Amino acid sequence: MNLQDYIAQADEVERAGIDALQSATDPDALEAARIAVLGDRNGRVKALQEALRSIAKEDKPAAGKRFNEARQRLESLHAERKATLDGGRKVAGANEDRSLPAREQWHGAKHPVTLVIEEIEDIFRELGFTIAQGPEAETEWYNFGALNFPPNHPALDAHDTLYLEKGGVLRTHTSPVQVRTLQKYEPPIRVLIPGNVYRRDFFDASHAPMFAQIEGLCVDEGISFVDLKSTLNRFAERIFGASRTRFRPSFFPFTEPSAEMDVQCGICGGSGCPACKGTGWIEILGSGMVHPKVLEAAGIDSERYTGWAFGMGPGRIAISRSGIPDIRILYDSDVRFLEQIAE
Ligand code: DAH
Repeated sequence: MNLQDYIAQADEVERAGIDALQSATDPDALEAARIAVLGDRNGRVKALQEALRSIAKEDKPAAGKRFNEARQRLESLHAERKATLDGGRKVAGANEDRSLPAREQWHGAKHPVTLVIEEIEDIFRELGFTIAQGPEAETEWYNFGALNFPPNHPALDAHDTLYLEKGGVLRTHTSPVQVRTLQKYEPPIRVLIPGNVYRRDFFDASHAPMFAQIEGLCVDEGISFVDLKSTLNRFAERIFGASRTRFRPSFFPFTEPSAEMDVQCGICGGSGCPACKGTGWIEILGSGMVHPKVLEAAGIDSERYTGWAFGMGPGRIAISRSGIPDIRILYDSDVRFLEQIAE
């Protein structure tokens, strides 16, 4: 064979060998390609080596050089493919430093609102509360009727409701679980009720059609507004540090009297900032003494028992604590944001 033909053949063996090794996608296919290309018996490289014998003596160095190049190229490609397909189990090479610390992995974390819910659960558990849950698809009676919303009462306007078929609603608050709990258990009752609620609201910087609430309910003989205030003050102290609180009179059909509780803004310390809309206070919950009609609707003797309740949005607490400007961030699941809050 003359030198030119030999080099052409070497080019061809190299090209076809690269093709075969590259196109193997699992270790078995790679081994089959290796035998066909680099195998000792019938491999194409072996045949190329044998063909060297027929080269004229003066052309042997050039042909041999080309042969070695082709073989080395194919052998190193094979080693590379093998390491990849074997799951990267590679032998340390000149460019590797095995003493480098491993790269940190992102393992995921709890959502900021979940963290707040768990923290609140812990605080109330210490105070003797247990956790209760109820259905998200409710009846109008549990969501409104049993909670003393008269039909067509203007208080319904505050609940932009998503109605279902046959008198069902997606619950607009966690308060219906108060009624379900009162029906099921005898006082003394102390429950905390976390859950998602639904409203026909636009999705903007401060509204979402689905959000989390936490309801609290305490019913027993001789429970008074003093118990409500002291428990909620204690709670605020725990979750916001030493922040001051204030109670403002309010209205809810299911409590009488009703009050909203504000906490002194933790960002500006009460002097007024964008987070508290310049007021120095952040409204965190609605509360009040359970209306006798609610107790009676659930079959509890309202002459014997009294109680207090509250409802709050853990999302709001997450926002005011972390200075998040737009609640939609809580729904984005953007890792770059969640990473900053994750524990
Ligand atoms: N359910 C009310 C709402 O979603 C919040 C609320 C206020 C719950 C006062 C209560 C309460 O238990 O006592 O707007």
